[in-house]
Amino acid sequence: MAHAPHLPSEAAPDDAPPSSNKAAIGILMLTIFLDLLGFQNNNFQYQFSEAPVIVTDHSGNERGIPATAADARGTIVPKAAHIRQINPRAGQSDRGAEVHPLKLMLRRGVTFGPEMEDEPDAERGLIFLSYQTSIVNQFLFLQSTWANSANAPASVGRDPLIGQDGSSNPKRTIKIPDATGRLNVCPFHGRWVVPTAGGYFFAPGIEGLRELSRHVLIAQASPEPEDLSQIKGIGPVFLKKLAGLGITRFDQLANLTEDEVEKLDDDSGLVKRARNEDWIGQARELVRSFRA
Ligand code: HEM
Repeated sequence: MAHAPHLPSEAAPDDAPPSSNKAAIGILMLTIFLDLLGFQNNNFQYQFSEAPVIVTDHSGNERGIPATAADARGTIVPKAAHIRQINPRAGQSDRGAEVHPLKLMLRRGVTFGPEMEDEPDAERGLIFLSYQTSIVNQFLFLQSTWANSANAPASVGRDPLIGQDGSSNPKRTIKIPDATGRLNVCPFHGRWVVPTAGGYFFAPGIEGLRELSRHVLIAQASPEPEDLSQIKGIGPVFLKKLAGLGITRFDQLANLTEDEVEKLDDDSGLVKRARNEDWIGQARELVRSFRA
């Protein structure tokens, strides 16, 4: 596809790599050689050639992660390729280079449906899952501003894998450089990915999960509720409130740290009352008297 001679072509871009072709070929060969040993540098940045990285494996042996050849023109990974449209790395984009890392997200593809051989007509496909801090600045930005645009992050056409133009027209073109960097306009037909549904969901962060598990642990550790109204200042309202927080026993109250008390704070005045009436001190006193 990249070398089709009859296709219309454009002048080569002027962002040629700083290294000579000879050096680039040398590094590429070294890359291929080291690749055969089973190592890969997935942290390459496209823009400049990178030296091999030496790492020490678990047995203390030094191993080489291959050098990476610069690919500023996109002759190795075309700028139109999905992985380059969606993460230009250090390469220039319509947004400059420095914002790219802020767009990164965690991804996982999950297949669904039976094997083709088992049920040829059954519904099957791929669920694309991504985890990010901001749906707008990460997933939506990548999909709408870069993948769907023919001119961003570079003017080489829409992302061939996931780019949409708002119509169901499957006819598209992307620009792919030949070995010299001249861009060829390549038409292709058919959509490779047909989105059928989508959804946004909230997933709690690690701190949120810790907080939830803390309440579960508290609840599990105290199977038998005790009558906390023996503590001065805890009436039916605060009794209910504390039970809602998983606190139903004297030892739970007695063992609360200052940080944990702080976290109980809400609009009900519970923390203020607990401090003013020294619920924790009273609880400690009662626990001591039970044990005596
Ligand atoms: C069904 C649809 C999709 C398929 C089949 C697909 C496929 C792939 C493949 C094969 C790779 C390279 C291997 C890898 O890093 O995992 C990749 C990378 C990537 N994809 Fe997708 N993808 C899809 C949808 C998306 C969507 C919707 C987004 C974002 C809006 C996205 C963002 C990315 C990113 C950020 C990378 C990493 C690029 C890099 O750092 O090199 N992908 N995808």
